[in-house]
Amino acid sequence: MSNLHYQSGFGNEFATEAHPGGLPVGQNAPQHAPLGLYTEQLSGSPFTAPRHLNRRTWTYRIRPSVMHPPYARLSNGLVRSTPFNEVETTPSQLRWDPIPLPTQPTDFLDGLTTLAGNGDLSMHSGVAIHLYAANKSMTDRFFYSADGELLFVPQLGGLRLHTELGILNIDNGEIAVIPRGIKFRVELTGKEARGYVLENFGQPLRLPDLGPIGANGLANSRDFLTPVAAYDDRDGAKFEVVAKFLGNLWVSEFDHSPLDVVAWHGNYAPYKYDLRLFNCINTVSFDHPDPSIFTVLTSPSELPGTANVDFVIFPPRWMVAEHTFRPPWFHRNFMNEFMGLVQGQYDAKAEGFVPGGASLHNCMSGHGPDAETFERASHTELKPVKLDGTLAFMFETRFACRPTKFAMDTAMLQHEYYECWQGLKKNFENGK
Ligand SMILES: [Fe+2]
Repeated sequence: MSNLHYQSGFGNEFATEAHPGGLPVGQNAPQHAPLGLYTEQLSGSPFTAPRHLNRRTWTYRIRPSVMHPPYARLSNGLVRSTPFNEVETTPSQLRWDPIPLPTQPTDFLDGLTTLAGNGDLSMHSGVAIHLYAANKSMTDRFFYSADGELLFVPQLGGLRLHTELGILNIDNGEIAVIPRGIKFRVELTGKEARGYVLENFGQPLRLPDLGPIGANGLANSRDFLTPVAAYDDRDGAKFEVVAKFLGNLWVSEFDHSPLDVVAWHGNYAPYKYDLRLFNCINTVSFDHPDPSIFTVLTSPSELPGTANVDFVIFPPRWMVAEHTFRPPWFHRNFMNEFMGLVQGQYDAKAEGFVPGGASLHNCMSGHGPDAETFERASHTELKPVKLDGTLAFMFETRFACRPTKFAMDTAMLQHEYYECWQGLKKNFENGK
């Protein structure tokens, strides 16, 4: 947006001040912070994390974060968290219709609904996968998660994320990440908004290594945008701050806006990325690279190559493979695949997987093209084809994703999903 300003680069050491002179020169914590501000460090990693993984930001703010009355429990609504044991997890393939848009005034937080998750947030592992559907902006209401960072994937309607460290605008085709602990409010830029939120309890998302691809490609660092400082000097009213802590929601009433950081410097900050800038690497000869070739961001675990979660996209691209079945083949995986669709059609499904919907294929559960797609892709002429107007994505995680009770009881669940494969014909005739 023309009225917003960003700083470019992934995880850079940024420095920004909304008032000239807001940042101290030459040291982090002078005896008197500039402009009558308070100094506060926000650490997103252990103090002793290796330099390339160390994340911290120094903030210079109107009031320190500690100025608030105690938190009290708030109903969790439809927000769920680890250990995700409300219902038993089926090995069956699951698919859902989009979550309905609200008919009553509903802000982002009211409309936050957990579909699935895994791991143990107290051990910094696993994820929660939430959907949101809202028709109202948060104005005097704020949220933060101490449990994990939040990756927003809007599907319908734009969001303006007012965070402690600045303002991010995102629309369909873009994503934003708000690190663990950073307070924000969600303003809708249209009448309604719907999308997906990945809450990552593990290591912060980062750019994947590129190996033989080389120094460039996939998501390039320079295309990640972090906001400049912007503050909200409001007080004298009630400002509701909701915290997600150890899986539960808590609320405290501040007498001032918590978004009061006037200047900051550091590398622990929210960011956005336009998925249209993703540089696809794909086959120019035959067969398929594995979907990891489309990894935008990864949260590694302590096991090499075994992500806590990867964020993977299937964007518009040319399909040119020769003598190849071009949609994804049938497969069963170690990793667990939660998929969503922002727009268009996914090339492995003829129907039923619609924008705003979701599917879940867990560890070793067979899946792949439906019968209609199999027939079409087996006989189509293999000229170069531009797959256009589509954007699917995957949260691929090392632990089986356990649906919530809501996910299994809701009318959104497509009980007939399995039928899309039942029309696959037996073509083998005794080896003839
Ligand atoms: Fe798959």
